[in-house]
Amino acid sequence: MIDGIHGNPTVYLNGDWLPLSEAKVSVLDRGFIFGDGIYEVLPVYKRKAFRLQSHLTRLERSLAAIRIRPPLDQAQWAALFDELIQRNQGDDQFLYLQVTRGVAKRDHSFPNPEVRPTVFAMSSPFQRPTTAQRDSGIAVVSLPDERWLHCDIKSVSLLGNVLARQAAIDRGAPEAVMFRDGFLTEGSASNIWMVKDGALHAPLKNHLILEGIRYGLLQELAERLQIPVQIRRIRQQELTQADELMLTSATKEVLPIVQLDQRPVGPGAHAGRPGPIYAKLRRAYDQLLDEL
Ligand code: PDD
Repeated sequence: MIDGIHGNPTVYLNGDWLPLSEAKVSVLDRGFIFGDGIYEVLPVYKRKAFRLQSHLTRLERSLAAIRIRPPLDQAQWAALFDELIQRNQGDDQFLYLQVTRGVAKRDHSFPNPEVRPTVFAMSSPFQRPTTAQRDSGIAVVSLPDERWLHCDIKSVSLLGNVLARQAAIDRGAPEAVMFRDGFLTEGSASNIWMVKDGALHAPLKNHLILEGIRYGLLQELAERLQIPVQIRRIRQQELTQADELMLTSATKEVLPIVQLDQRPVGPGAHAGRPGPIYAKLRRAYDQLLDEL
């Protein structure tokens, strides 16, 4: 029994299927020693990985960025995820995949000759956001973005994100919103969106943020709903004047942010409550899932 995990789900490790409690990696794994690896998180609805192709594309991009030769091709990843879903319970799951550079004597430079990357995948029950969270929204706090300059890589080196999330929790908020040089970057584990004068605004897709799969998805939904989208640098100050704020991620889907640094978000009557653009996007997101 592992604390906080119910049952003993079946996981994948380097070609084997085994109970989570029996999955072990070497202490010399470079993921453990250096955080030298990348990961993916994929939501599963109705026993199918959602937006699989986008996740596979991002996975390959992350591997290439840190120069790990892809241990599996796209069809093999897809088959692995399918089997992982079949071997686990629940119509809705979320899949975690981690690939590290492998096990080698501790030395910063890449192992030479190359070693086999470590591939680990597990499924967890997907607790979709509750009605209360969707209806009431969540609070966030502003923090300086103290991470490195390759936030576009979905790296397992997440210390900056971990510290930001904990700093938010310590202040009673479930998520942090981060700023670099006075401009919005993202949440500790989510992308952040602002609504102003009927348009949806998001930060540039560059090395300072992780381009979420739901970043692209929300853009598509906005387009379908004829909500104008502006991708640009957003000043920290602008968030305090926002009509609405929201966040997206694989596990949070799309959630309204109703408090920023303990002040209600939004103007007049709907201050501190989810706004109309959120409601439209939320409906469109749910509709997409209903159609699966
Ligand atoms: N995190 N930005 C960061 C820093 C993230 O960690 C995530 C997701 C996102 C949103 O990406 P997507 O829409 O693909 O989930 C943006 C995952 C859920 C995690 O680390 O658990």
